[in-house]
Amino acid sequence: MTSKETEGRGKFIVVEGLDGSGKSTHAKMIRDYIENELGEKCLLTSEPGESPIGKLLRELFKNPDANNEPLSELLLFFANRNEHLKKQIIPALDRGDWVVCERFWGSSYAYQGGGHGIKDVHIEYLIKWITSEEKPALTLFLDIPVEKALERIRKRKQTDSFESQDADFFKRVRDMYHTLAIDNHWAVIDSTRDKKAVSADIQQAINALRQT
Ligand code: TYD
Repeated sequence: MTSKETEGRGKFIVVEGLDGSGKSTHAKMIRDYIENELGEKCLLTSEPGESPIGKLLRELFKNPDANNEPLSELLLFFANRNEHLKKQIIPALDRGDWVVCERFWGSSYAYQGGGHGIKDVHIEYLIKWITSEEKPALTLFLDIPVEKALERIRKRKQTDSFESQDADFFKRVRDMYHTLAIDNHWAVIDSTRDKKAVSADIQQAINALRQT
C-alpha cells in the first residue's frame, strides 16, 4: 500500500496501539534494529510530537478536564500531521532514511472516530486529503486488552485528558483499531507477552517488508 516508494527511498513504519501498549519501548527497539542490524539510517518520531503544533497539543491535553470538542481535536491532530509529514517524514524518506512513527492517522480514527464517535466519512476525507501523498509501508498494531492498558496507565504519575477516559471509551478505541487492522492489512502483535517475544514478531514483519 505504498504510494511513492521508489528505488532509494526509505521505508515508513507506523506503530499504533492503546496508551500503555508499549509503543514507545518498541519504537525505540525498532529504530535500534533498523540501524544496528539492517544498517539503515532511521528517524524515530511520534505524534503529537515535538513540532510547534505538537507541543501546543500536548499542552492542551495535559489538562484532564480539557473537554475539547472532538471535532476540534480531530482537526488539530490533522493540522499537526500535515506539518509532521511534510517537514519531517517525507524529507527523511526522500533522503533514503527509514522512519518509525509512533501514532499516525490510525490514532485519529481510533480515538476521535471509535472513542468519540466522529463519523468515518469525515475522518476518511482528512486521511485522503492530508496523508495520501505518503502511505506507511507497514503499520504495527500493538494490541493489549483495555484492562491491562488501564492498569499500566494508572501506574503513571500524570495522565492526560485521553488517558483519564473510562474503560468504555478505550473499548471503543480498541474495537476500531481491530477494524482498521483488518481493513488495512496491519500487522497485529499481541503486546501482552514479554518484550522479547513481541520484538521477535515485529522483526519478522520488518524483515518481510525489507524483501518488498
Ligand atoms: P501519546 O502517545 O500518549 O503521547 P505521549 O506518550 O508522548 O504523551 O499520545 C497522547 C494522546 O493523544 C493519546 O492518549 C492518544 C491521543 N491521540 C489522539 O486522540 N488522536 C491522534 O490522532 C493522536 C496522534 C493522538
